[in-house]
Amino acid sequence: MSQAAQMQLSIDWDRSAGVRDPLFFGYFLEHFHRQVYGGVYDPGSPLAGDNGFRGDVLDAVRRLRPAVIRWPGGCFASGYHWRHGVGPDRVPSYDKAWRVEEPNTFGTDEFIEFCRLTGAEPYLCANAGTGTAEEMSDWVEYCNLNGRSRFARLRQENGHARPHQVRLWGIGNENYGWWEIGARDSSEWGRFVREAAKMMRRVDDRVVLSAAAFIDLDRDLDLLVDWGLSLLRTAAPQIDLLAIHGYAVLTEGAGYLESVGRIGFAETRIRRAERLLELLGPDQRIRIAFDEWNPRGWHFPGFDGRQRPDISEWDRNDDNSAYTMADAILHASFLNTCLRHCASVAMTCLSPVVNTRGPIFTHGGGIVLRPTYHVCDLYTSLLAPEVLDAHARIPVFTAAGQDAAGPVTLPRADTVATVDRASGRLAVAVCNLHPDQPLDCVIWVPGRALAGPGQVTTLTGATPSSFNDVGHPDDVRPTAAPVPADGDTCRIRLGPHSVSIVELHTSPAN
Ligand code: AHR
Repeated sequence: MSQAAQMQLSIDWDRSAGVRDPLFFGYFLEHFHRQVYGGVYDPGSPLAGDNGFRGDVLDAVRRLRPAVIRWPGGCFASGYHWRHGVGPDRVPSYDKAWRVEEPNTFGTDEFIEFCRLTGAEPYLCANAGTGTAEEMSDWVEYCNLNGRSRFARLRQENGHARPHQVRLWGIGNENYGWWEIGARDSSEWGRFVREAAKMMRRVDDRVVLSAAAFIDLDRDLDLLVDWGLSLLRTAAPQIDLLAIHGYAVLTEGAGYLESVGRIGFAETRIRRAERLLELLGPDQRIRIAFDEWNPRGWHFPGFDGRQRPDISEWDRNDDNSAYTMADAILHASFLNTCLRHCASVAMTCLSPVVNTRGPIFTHGGGIVLRPTYHVCDLYTSLLAPEVLDAHARIPVFTAAGQDAAGPVTLPRADTVATVDRASGRLAVAVCNLHPDQPLDCVIWVPGRALAGPGQVTTLTGATPSSFNDVGHPDDVRPTAAPVPADGDTCRIRLGPHSVSIVELHTSPAN
């Protein structure tokens, strides 16, 4: 083997970073663009069943084993009245978030069915923009009560005799933002959350509640502290999860280096949220729901409400060539970061699950699985539940990409180590960020023997800008190969611009 840059990873068997929460690998679905209509729900399409759901989409989502799906938005949620979307007579309403007509044919009962068909737990985001605490708690009645409640009876009349038993509820979406319908001041927010939570828990005290929290570091620091603290001071006893959001690359058309250069974005946001929570003292129990995130931002001119929307512009989000190996690497490194913080991060929701900049793209004749789909699939199926501390010696590289403003210096790799202690199976995720150089990776676990052969599953494409599309759906796809381990060390060469999962077996060293 000729010389390549080398990374050394020493995994500490005795230091656990935590066990990933069952809610960890989640998704998001919003009434926006073609996510719901023309995405998961397409009555009349030859690919849809009698229930209106696209069979190919259901299969692809189910294969990801989604822990949760958050719905109905997003900004859409801040103007959404759930009663418009239940019952036999659905009347369209004007969606003031995205300035389009919402047919309301996909509502609560359809979403619950979608979750049932895909195996996900529903996570409903209640309207804290134009909605009230009462409306939120009425929705809990509709979903969770059984008898002696006006809204439980309504659900039964709508053909759902048994409660939907929705455990996960979100109070609000980005209510701190000037862009959000019914945006609130920091002083109002804590009180609103506390009262909404109180009413929702009066209906069902088993609910798990999140509240929208401002954590965007690229914005005003005072606002950030002010928002976080006033929410926690007033409502901490009532909430279980702090809901934060983040989109890594906001520049449209950003190329490989500019994109992978954003691998640190989640770390900063999570640390900020952790520090806010630490202010509550050592016994605090609130965890973080990173319940909207994506490697890439989205294209929607007129989002600030000043322009008329040009709906055809939304389709720019559906250009598959925009979602490349850079997205796969950013995606993997986001999950690595959240896993390293799994003691505090309970949930992540990739935004969205279908279309816009999601991992699944639908078209009239089928679907395309974008590179990020394979990352979701590999992480859910191959990583083990417990995260171990690891000491990584990772070289850096400097490159001047045509897309970057100047030369950038980046780490060669990003990694996380996981284990299933019962079987001794170790699963290590490693991204090689370099656009065209391989990386040698040396892995060992002091005090443990490594038994081979293991397996490495690698996701890559011919170039850093490889992508999948109709006509070439497999340009980026995972392949598996055996990996030797010679007793205490595993040495493996990882190709450029790649995401790999290395699986090995460990046992106590003699
Ligand atoms: O996904 C589009 C929007 O991005 C969501 O509605 C909002 O929550 C975020 O700002």
